[in-house]
Amino acid sequence: MKISVIGCGYLGAVHAACMADFGHEVIALDIDAVKVERLGRGIPPFHEPGFEDVLKRALASGRLRFTTDPSAIGEAALHFIAVGTPQRGGSYAADLSQVDTTVAFLLDHARSDGGPVVVVGKSTVPVGTAQSIADRLTEGGLDAVVVWNPEFLREGYAVADTTRPDRVVYGLPEDEERGEIGRAALDEVYRPIIDAGTPRLLVNYPTAELVKVAANSFLATKISFINSMAELCDATGADVTRLAEAIGHDDRIGPKFLQAGIGFGGGCLPKDIRAFMARAGELGVDQSLTFLREVDSINMRRRDHAVELAAQMCGGRLVGLKVAVLGLTFKPDSDDVRDSPALDIAGRLWGRGANVVATDPAGADAVRRVRPDLQIVDTADEALEGADLVMLLTAWRDYVAIDPSHAKSLVAVPRILDGRNALDPKAWSQAGWDYRGMGRTASSW
Ligand code: UDX
Repeated sequence: MKISVIGCGYLGAVHAACMADFGHEVIALDIDAVKVERLGRGIPPFHEPGFEDVLKRALASGRLRFTTDPSAIGEAALHFIAVGTPQRGGSYAADLSQVDTTVAFLLDHARSDGGPVVVVGKSTVPVGTAQSIADRLTEGGLDAVVVWNPEFLREGYAVADTTRPDRVVYGLPEDEERGEIGRAALDEVYRPIIDAGTPRLLVNYPTAELVKVAANSFLATKISFINSMAELCDATGADVTRLAEAIGHDDRIGPKFLQAGIGFGGGCLPKDIRAFMARAGELGVDQSLTFLREVDSINMRRRDHAVELAAQMCGGRLVGLKVAVLGLTFKPDSDDVRDSPALDIAGRLWGRGANVVATDPAGADAVRRVRPDLQIVDTADEALEGADLVMLLTAWRDYVAIDPSHAKSLVAVPRILDGRNALDPKAWSQAGWDYRGMGRTASSW
């Protein structure tokens, strides 16, 4: 099928390449000329395992093209909306300006002379947006069937989550005949996914829109829940990692997303729960989501706590001390530093007068752009050299695998704060380190 993907960020670029890999003819549009030029040469503009291979393969097949020219989408029978919906400045709400631009592009360039075009929304939007887009396209004279098809991809697993999702959700228009057109078109695009027996849920627009924010709210809540348990563990001498393991054996709870530490960040969870609260306020049901305010504040408290703990470990003051920060991205296997707890903590340490020397395998360039004042070195060994305190803030495999005896030979004082509870406390303590986790002790049991 001839399709367009509008927006070549994380979601759109991966989606475009994977759809071309499925055999479709894909035109991918973005207003950022540098990004388009790089993608067109097979160079991913972000770190994502496996993406470069799919991108190169799709480009070599001749079925994938990147462009900044909106008129190029005219040939497509189906258009994916994959633009960003970041947090709006000065507010909790989502900024929908890129969605508005997309609607304008569609009205100017999409063609429905041979029958309705199908417009598939993948961006995370406030509930009500799909209907509003459908109305605006109709009012503008485009015969379009809008389908809302939320994306659940995780950074670091973007290709697998796109080509082998655990479920697909189609939000369809109330008119059954038009809904059927949308369903059939999307089934054709997703043929390999549908043929693999992936659960496919057909729902109305508001359900599809809510599914995405509900999923992210649940995940954020799960993380803040275990982080609140970490606070109790700190107060009582319990170990939150053992507690998580024990409750995770109950399959009603499950072991995933119970990793306590410095909390969640990234381009999705924080802004999605805030936009959800803002939308609930607009709908007059803000009480239903007041718990998310607590989820957000537990999460932000983790950052304060990590800085306080760092100071406590160093006798109360950080001024003039060398702090080695291992990891700056919001999670491993990503170069994304948007709302990264690690970067935020590094900045706060700097603000407390510490001499912060940080390192990250993928995020250094992004950090240099947003925090040019932070000192970044290439390797963990360089960061550790002469450090008064080490902080593991992103659980990159290489950092988790650091040998505590080797690390001890480099630092000035063997003190480590494990912000992700990713290290073995016993091994580090036995090697002579003062080890502190987040809601975790180095007890024998
Ligand atoms: C998330 C959702 O998982 C995905 O379904 C959605 O489509 C987009 O948002 P992503 O932003 O890639 O994906 O990150 P995710 O893996 O969910 O992690 C989010 C944050 O939570 C990271 O900062 C991570 O370090 C943190 N986290 C995760 C924890 O602190 N503890 C955990 O147990 C799990």
